[in-house]
Amino acid sequence: MSALQKMMGWIDDRFPLTATYKAHLSEYYAPKNFNFWYFFGSLALLVLVMQIVTGIFLTMNYKPDSELAFASVEYIMRDVDWGWLIRYMHSTGASMFFVVVYLHMFRGLMYGSYRKPRELIWIFGVLIYLALMAEAFLGYLLPWGQMSFWGAQVIVNLFAAVPFIGDDLSIWIRGDYVISDATLNRFFAFHVIALPLVLIALVAVHLVALHEVGSNNPDGIEIKKKKDPVTHIPLDGIPFHPYYTVKDIVGVIVFLMVFSAIVFFGPEMGGYFLEANNFIPADPLKTPPHIAPLWYFTPFYAILRAVPPMFGSQFPGVVAMGMSIVLMFFLPWLDRGKVKSIRYRGPIYKIMLALFIVSFVGLGYLGLLPSTPVATMFAQGFSVIYFLFFLLMPWYTSIDKTKPEPERVTG
Ligand code: HEM
Repeated sequence: MSALQKMMGWIDDRFPLTATYKAHLSEYYAPKNFNFWYFFGSLALLVLVMQIVTGIFLTMNYKPDSELAFASVEYIMRDVDWGWLIRYMHSTGASMFFVVVYLHMFRGLMYGSYRKPRELIWIFGVLIYLALMAEAFLGYLLPWGQMSFWGAQVIVNLFAAVPFIGDDLSIWIRGDYVISDATLNRFFAFHVIALPLVLIALVAVHLVALHEVGSNNPDGIEIKKKKDPVTHIPLDGIPFHPYYTVKDIVGVIVFLMVFSAIVFFGPEMGGYFLEANNFIPADPLKTPPHIAPLWYFTPFYAILRAVPPMFGSQFPGVVAMGMSIVLMFFLPWLDRGKVKSIRYRGPIYKIMLALFIVSFVGLGYLGLLPSTPVATMFAQGFSVIYFLFFLLMPWYTSIDKTKPEPERVTG
């Protein structure tokens, strides 16, 4: 027995190292037909790690103080060794996190990955999405630029629209009557420690739930139903390591090429990743003419603005915006389709999914624009489609003409 084997034996007697490695990597059998869309889970993990590491280094030089915050970010950009790189990696990482997560969620919609037995994977996913939105929103206040300040002002004011408790609620969130140093301090605390902990915990349970039931695949059929009678290994399964570790590395390399191109050649991405107005220090006395959130929030912002105020209160819009996310939790029970994957669905689901994506992207675009009567009309139309995709789902998925699923996974 080699020294290494002896050491492994010693560890395994005290800690399930080899057993964990086998259960989750070398003897975890994943469907052999994963395609392009299966890159985004591992990429989301990569971005999460990058955000945490770059975040730690930013925190070393950032000052969570309304008098110093803006200048400390400029100091990071100009004077800290490689500070510009760390900051641009973190700001690009925030947007790329959403790019990756949106594609990851879209994969779930295409292949019915939220359906039984993966409901909890999906629910943990929606919770991750909510935590990610909170994390991005809180982080955006920290540079204390004009958009940081006024963006936070607009969003926290939405809580003031809640009947009866609204005013107290928004003061409680801010810790003051306006966005102030107290707000910056608490947002900093939540951004650097509370929400990252929540995110890590949610990602952990997301993966535990995934490994409990096993991955879905582009055919939407269960590989565990067809096992080798002797080895009990799914006939269409291959060990995650080395096959998918190697495949995922290809995704990582391509992703890092795109990521580096943005960081080095266009970190502001024409104002979509970093807004020009945020290079101006926060000025509580000067409201910018046009306040829009960053691109990943704009679909929901457009829904908010599409709903007209009632009795002068924005509350109905706030409720619609909240509902647009809450509905996602119910997806596993709204879908009554006989098959999971888009490959075997009928035309109605395909059309509804296409309309949903067009509406979501359309809302995202409209949310970036100043609100005009025409834009509002389009936003209202898209919002209706967005909601109908969910609300009519039990009906259209049950009447849709599906194709028969194959017995074994195809290519
Ligand atoms: C930090 C964010 C996230 C991370 C790190 C993450 C990680 C992963 C990983 C590594 C996988 C397995 C590989 C793959 O199928 O691509 C996975 C699967 C899955 N994730 Fe996520 N995820 C995240 C967010 C989300 C969100 C926001 C949702 C949905 C709302 C979601 C829903 C799912 C589903 C349904 C599966 C199973 C897919 C299948 O088997 O076809 N995830 N996730």
